[in-house]
Amino acid sequence: MKAIVVTRYGKTEEVVELRDMPAPVVGPRDVLIEVHAASVNPIDFKMQQGELKAVRKLQFPYIMGFDVSGVVKAVGSEVYGFQPGEAVYSRVDGERFGTFAELVAVDEQFVAHKPARLSHAEAASLPLVALTSWQAFGRASLKAGQRVLVHAGAGGIGTIAIQIARALGAKVATTTSARNVELVRSLGADTVVDYQQQQFDTVLSNYDMVLETLGGDNQRRSFSVLKPGGMLVSILGVPTAAWARKQKLPFFMPWLFGWLNRGNDKLARQHKVQWDMLLMQPDGQQLRGISDLVEAGLVAPVIDRVFPLAQAKQALLHSQSGRARGKIVIEVKPAAA
Ligand SMILES: NC(=O)c1ccc[n+]([C@@H]2O[C@H](COP(=O)([O-])OP(=O)(O)OC[C@H]3O[C@@H](n4cnc5c(N)ncnc54)[C@H](OP(=O)(O)O)[C@@H]3O)[C@@H](O)[C@H]2O)c1
Repeated sequence: MKAIVVTRYGKTEEVVELRDMPAPVVGPRDVLIEVHAASVNPIDFKMQQGELKAVRKLQFPYIMGFDVSGVVKAVGSEVYGFQPGEAVYSRVDGERFGTFAELVAVDEQFVAHKPARLSHAEAASLPLVALTSWQAFGRASLKAGQRVLVHAGAGGIGTIAIQIARALGAKVATTTSARNVELVRSLGADTVVDYQQQQFDTVLSNYDMVLETLGGDNQRRSFSVLKPGGMLVSILGVPTAAWARKQKLPFFMPWLFGWLNRGNDKLARQHKVQWDMLLMQPDGQQLRGISDLVEAGLVAPVIDRVFPLAQAKQALLHSQSGRARGKIVIEVKPAAA
């Protein structure tokens, strides 16, 4: 089968290739998906560049990609929820990924039926960003009537997080550049800060939650917009010591992560708020909840551009520009085919 592979750590131009690869092995609990579309996430190029080297071992060449929408081609002997011919989507297993390919095998627990109103390109744009947003709001127990600041509202996460927060009944503020102000307003943002004109922490205060997607100084300044008792959920940076203990990492890792996060802990104490770093987990049941929001018309995909599989390199480079408006999709089997 045709697939986009990474041959070694390095620059996209040098290490990403279209190759013929063996079809995936289908285990008893697997759904074999004929991929119609996949989508790009920053984790794709971060892994390829070796940014996650310290925490995960990769064997080269590996097939890229975590998000998929397609049609079930076959199912393992212990799969009961899906049948060949059904349209499905998934944020696939973090240990066994590879959606930039004609076929991918995914454990049933990570799969959901594709929302009928979406094309495969639209559906493929959703799983990773929608699950991340859903889990972040769950972590902070965001409730109707509360106020949340979603950073980078025009990005893959931001465009969906704004809509999910609104669906939960929250009031949403977001940061973006001038060219995307109309876009984020159309998605439901109540307050928009053009970060090139204003510092968000000089105009926002008393928020219940911040969804922090940019890291560094942006994260440090975000603590001050929270009210006492509020919560910052970051999706960038070093995981917490508590997370390292839960993963049963070697004894020095919780200590190291705690030390690296001492600045965040100090800011949280100063502002009398909580903070956590979230690493999203794939989850087919939560994806069904997201399908419900889509079918109810509360969440709609935002697609920046669609690239054919053979142009996956260009898609990855576009993602690396940091300027995507919504999601970048890779079409593996064009809709008319
Ligand atoms: N921990 C996890 O489980 C997890 C899950 C998903 C994603 N992530 C991480 O979260 C980050 C965001 O992901 P993404 O998919 O949303 O990325 P993305 O789609 O590439 O984000 C691009 C967007 O960022 C906006 N942006 C850039 N600088 C900004 C600034 N200073 N203030 C406000 N907006 C700014 C840009 O808007 P303008 O052009 O208007 O500036 C653009 O629309 C990535 O680093 C990703 O790796 C982590």
